[in-house]
Amino acid sequence: MIYKKIVSPVLDRLDSETWHIKAREALHWAEMMPGGLKLVEQFAYKRKRFSHPKLHINVAGVEFDNPLLAGAGWDKEGRAVRGIWQLGAAGGEFGGVLAHPQYGNPKPRQFVAAPGVVINRLGFNSGGMSKVSTNLRKYFESGIPVGINVSENKEVVQSEIPEDHARACVQVVYKTYHVASWFTLGLSSPNTPKMRRLQGKQWLECIVASCLRATGTMGRRKPLFIKIAPDLSWEELDEVIEVACGYGVGIVASNTTINTDIKGKYGFADEAGGLSGDDPDFRAMSVMQIAYIYRKTGGSISIMGAGGIKDAPTALEKIKAGALPLQIVSAIRGEGPTVFGRINRGLVEYMDREGVSSIQELVGVDAAKYTT
Ligand SMILES: Cc1cc2nc3c(=O)[nH]c(=O)nc-3n(C[C@H](O)[C@H](O)[C@H](O)COP(=O)(O)O)c2cc1C
Repeated sequence: MIYKKIVSPVLDRLDSETWHIKAREALHWAEMMPGGLKLVEQFAYKRKRFSHPKLHINVAGVEFDNPLLAGAGWDKEGRAVRGIWQLGAAGGEFGGVLAHPQYGNPKPRQFVAAPGVVINRLGFNSGGMSKVSTNLRKYFESGIPVGINVSENKEVVQSEIPEDHARACVQVVYKTYHVASWFTLGLSSPNTPKMRRLQGKQWLECIVASCLRATGTMGRRKPLFIKIAPDLSWEELDEVIEVACGYGVGIVASNTTINTDIKGKYGFADEAGGLSGDDPDFRAMSVMQIAYIYRKTGGSISIMGAGGIKDAPTALEKIKAGALPLQIVSAIRGEGPTVFGRINRGLVEYMDREGVSSIQELVGVDAAKYTT
């Protein structure tokens, strides 16, 4: 309450990227201090990390103690894994991780368009794979699930040769293999010119096959996901589904939207960048995609959900459409640090009311409801 009434409106007036990084670094430094994580826990829901057996899930062989993750972009450098876990997330997807360090687009490049609604055109600012892999190595012993969001430097994105893209992604997979529980191909950002075409079958097949092969040659084959844009047409999504089913990989639905009607509601129609967070039309886009993928595949591939999740009802909507686990980015800032605990608590309350014994039982139960 205090956060939404007092803290959030103040933060809304400050530079969004700067304060995002400050929050992440505060968690990082708390991790290093004796008693720092206990202090972090004071900011979690009811001042305690929430956990419940009904929330435990296994997806693609990865164990999560609850269905909520910090999504890609929240911690691009792998600096605050323990801190975000202490606030209640089961783990996170870190990155986008690039082979080489990259500054990204000129600042300012991240904006709060309205409370809970974010527009970013960061353009993959990254310290590069060596730095991220070193940062993440120290969390290995913790057993916290870590996803690596694999992406490409902007020069590589321009290449017309599929093998160039595959090589760039494979480099990141090799470098981060030992710290990764899963990999996600983050090639659906609207903020690097020509990137979104890489969701086409002719590119994806080569990239997916090479990354899978790379994880195999490093040891155990690790789960791979393809992250999609919410703006794909159904035909384009069919191509992604074909590749995902053909190679037995999952899908993350979805990234930020460039839909000008939605951005226009906030006066950003003509501004470059992707919108995320608490907008009902944006949220509906990913729900529709999740349900479509679930129906088309008969629930045979894993789907991670992202897009406007902010409370238990919006999380349940994604789960019932067919997604588990779920990734949250914008609501960490919009709803505050209690968001993971509050949602998890709400999910358990719902399951208790409805006599459901595991969150996994709810996956896809409403998929048929959403017709395209
Ligand atoms: C500031 C910011 C940075 C992001 N960076 C990435 C990224 O590097 N790679 C990626 O795949 N998605 C990135 N995303 C997209 C999110 O992972 C997520 O898919 C999207 O924001 C929808 O979730 P949300 O509504 O909970 O924010 C970013 C989002 C935001 C707001």
